[in-house]
Amino acid sequence: MQELGGIFGAVSCSGRNVAPIVLTGLKRLKHCGFDTTGVAFIDGGRLGVLKEVGEPREVIEKLRLEELSTPIALGHVRFSTHGRPHVDNAHPHTDCSKRIAVVGDGAIANYEAIYDRLIMEGHELKSRSDFEVIAHLIEDCLRRGLSTLESIAVAEQSLEGFYSYAVLSEESRSIIAYTSLQPLYVGRGRDLTIVSTSKSALHGLVDEYVELSGGELVAANSSTTRFYKLHGLVRVDKGFDKLSVVEEFVEKDGYPHHMLREMYEIPYAVLRCLAVHQEKYLSYASKHVREAEDVYIIANGTSLHAGLVASYYLSELANISPIVTSAAEFPLYYMENVGPGAVVVAISQSGETSDVVQAAYEAKLRGATIMGLTNYVGSRLANIANLYLPIGAGPELAVPATKTFVTTLTTLYKVSIRVARDMGRITASEYGEAVSRVRNYALKLGESMAEIDAEASKAAGEIASCRSGYVISRGITYPIALEGALKIKEVAYVHAEGMEAGEFRHGPISLVEKGFFTLFLVPVEPHAAKASYPLIKTSIDMGATVAVIGFDNDPNLLELKNVSVIKVMHADRYLAPIAYAIPLQFLAYRLGLKLQRPIDKPRYLTKAVS
Ligand code: AGP
Repeated sequence: MQELGGIFGAVSCSGRNVAPIVLTGLKRLKHCGFDTTGVAFIDGGRLGVLKEVGEPREVIEKLRLEELSTPIALGHVRFSTHGRPHVDNAHPHTDCSKRIAVVGDGAIANYEAIYDRLIMEGHELKSRSDFEVIAHLIEDCLRRGLSTLESIAVAEQSLEGFYSYAVLSEESRSIIAYTSLQPLYVGRGRDLTIVSTSKSALHGLVDEYVELSGGELVAANSSTTRFYKLHGLVRVDKGFDKLSVVEEFVEKDGYPHHMLREMYEIPYAVLRCLAVHQEKYLSYASKHVREAEDVYIIANGTSLHAGLVASYYLSELANISPIVTSAAEFPLYYMENVGPGAVVVAISQSGETSDVVQAAYEAKLRGATIMGLTNYVGSRLANIANLYLPIGAGPELAVPATKTFVTTLTTLYKVSIRVARDMGRITASEYGEAVSRVRNYALKLGESMAEIDAEASKAAGEIASCRSGYVISRGITYPIALEGALKIKEVAYVHAEGMEAGEFRHGPISLVEKGFFTLFLVPVEPHAAKASYPLIKTSIDMGATVAVIGFDNDPNLLELKNVSVIKVMHADRYLAPIAYAIPLQFLAYRLGLKLQRPIDKPRYLTKAVS
């Protein structure tokens, strides 16, 4: 049961009560999770934990957390990616002796193996949460006489994945936090140290902050705040910066819109998504797909576009050709043929879209196996599905789907290569290399997001005066053209049509003129890419506003004149849909901003169409 979440802990140097500060921080972490809320604290020298299902406001009231008084406290909000939200799965988790409390964010990829080992060794684990294992690993080291800090350093060597966590220790009366790479901030005030997943959540509580780098630890108690490199526990000097956060943006983690924040989270979301899939579920998914007589992929809107990309993945990698269709169309056209041999892959980030849920339900009644891909573990789709795969994006609060689209693609790709591996079409090491390529791409992506945003913003400036346009591509990036057009309509209220490049001259070209835009996504199939450049030239000659998205290693891109060019980092062919989706999302956002649209809540739309 892996999960994502938000961490907020505080320790006072003067002995003052930090509970109100931690509760304020938790209320600011809605973008990190809202399934459960919990706090660990020291009361009369003993470790205490209070936790419950619900978002901070509800839980604070229910458990009367405002009555807490403690000089050190560590809080958490959880976003479940496996298993229903339940108090047993809520953080903080404790060890058997209840002297260590742990809260975490992200996913521990090898938790299944560690869990089994700890159970064999006699530990009592109460949840299936991956972060609970950390408390017990630390407990083992404490029993051997190591300090809490040393114990964390040793325990950390067993863990794989993409995560951060914080530990409250009864013994050392300290908060020790570690990050493998995810953002984790330390704030410093006059008589206070805070550890938080969000920099903005520190607003008004401390004056200075510093960000932990991957592989670093912070240990804070009432007298010192020290930083270490995990390896060898070498002390590190870190300079604090003055904290300045726009108050209005605090709950959006410092961004003016949730959509913008969620796009900038994409690199982390992909890394967490890769760690979130448990081996046994991937293996079931692969088995069902391989053994199916028919594979249907059903979804709506953005999720349908992800499903279309999956048809390229499955057909090229596994020689399986699924039928991909709108969940609204599926019952009218295909349902009659659905029976026990069918696998229906139902995709819905919300898990609540009625067309998807109803179609999945009916197909299940007919004996089909339902494989649900969703971001919400408590959703109707997750409940109906025979097999549920999380996409692990974390909360997506803006109506336009961005990071969930990318993590849905990541999940579908992972399932497809897993099927290919289990069919013997690729080797285990090729499978591992393919997963590593996604990981490495996400890691590098973090550095290029601002540049992609800037180029997309420039292109949006050119397109803003156009009344309508086409988004054009071919091959595996064709569904991304459909998705780009959807995003532009949804966010900017500008008419856009996604188009397969081969169709351009079969009628649509008639509309191209001044005041119309054509946005080309250079196909990644070489012959299709070559065929695109004459179309780009034709559009320019016809007076259209032209923008082009392509790989940064494409020499033809640099030669283009009178067009807005958005370069994305070169990627493996199967990652091109992810690479191209990001600038399109930025472009739609920047266009919506220029046209003063209500970006996070476009008119007539809701997050789940039910
Ligand atoms: C995406 O930006 C749109 N809001 C919309 O098309 C959405 O993808 C569609 O309604 C399906 O939602 P789901 O993934 O939650 O089922």
